[in-house]
Amino acid sequence: MLRTVNATRYVLPLREGGSLPAIVEADDLGLYVVKFRGAGQGALALVAELVAGEIGRVLGLNIPEIVFVIIDDALGRNEPDYEIRELIKNSAGLNLALDYLPGSTMFDRAANDKITPEIASLAVWFDAFTQNVDRTPRNANLLLWHRKPYFIDHGAALYFHHDWVTMPQKIESPFAEIAQHILLSWAAQIPSASQIAHRRLNPPILAEILAGVPNEWLKAARAGADPGEIRSAYVDFFLRRLAASPIFEEEAIRAHARLV
Ligand SMILES: Nc1ncnc2c1ncn2[C@@H]1O[C@H](COP(=O)(O)OP(=O)(O)O)[C@@H](O)[C@H]1O
Ligand SMILES: [Mg+2]
Repeated sequence: MLRTVNATRYVLPLREGGSLPAIVEADDLGLYVVKFRGAGQGALALVAELVAGEIGRVLGLNIPEIVFVIIDDALGRNEPDYEIRELIKNSAGLNLALDYLPGSTMFDRAANDKITPEIASLAVWFDAFTQNVDRTPRNANLLLWHRKPYFIDHGAALYFHHDWVTMPQKIESPFAEIAQHILLSWAAQIPSASQIAHRRLNPPILAEILAGVPNEWLKAARAGADPGEIRSAYVDFFLRRLAASPIFEEEAIRAHARLV
């Protein structure tokens, strides 16, 4: 079960991506990076952030704690920036946030940052499994904090949920985009990452992750459908993609071999 906190202070916008997340203080005095429900990408980006993030955690990757954050529309009342005021107003109610990692830096090959083959292979497997294109050298979405890698920004993963009609074709996608993955050159242990993933991902664990997604956000995934059915459809996708994992694993192994 994710914790729920109440936002008490808007601290700072983070203007890197287009979605305008922000550092917000909450009533537990913690700082969080809030992903706003009212941002252009909508509630589905929050579903992806939560579901992919928790899958990454089950796999053993470091993911900052994910919490629900309740936003009162008065929070943005005194913000001078019109865009920010509107975003907060449109996000009143339930939103998603990640624990803020103070002093973290973005993983940067040019700065000679390195990673172990175990973590790189697991990360490549994870991003191919969840079809996440946002882990490239230009846009690493990988923070180093106290020398450990932390994976963030999974809002663009699970792109099948934008079009359920073509979802069946995506189950067996080799995910050629893995060639752009920032950690690919270190990912020399895809087969053992696969073994770990197959041991850790199973129907009850996936169902538990989906159970944590609010009904209102699921409705954005498939208008008119019953939330329980939508949850099952996600679990079904993941189980079938897990069964088809050799397809994207072979693609990743080939892409890795081209680099080394
Ligand atoms: N948990 C966190 N701790 C510290 N900084 C973060 C955290 N999450 C995000 N950031 C910073 O905010 C930036 C934007 O967040 P991100 O989740 O990547 O959203 P987007 O790319 O959609 O704007 C990141 O590139 C990173 O610099
Ligand atoms: Mg990002």
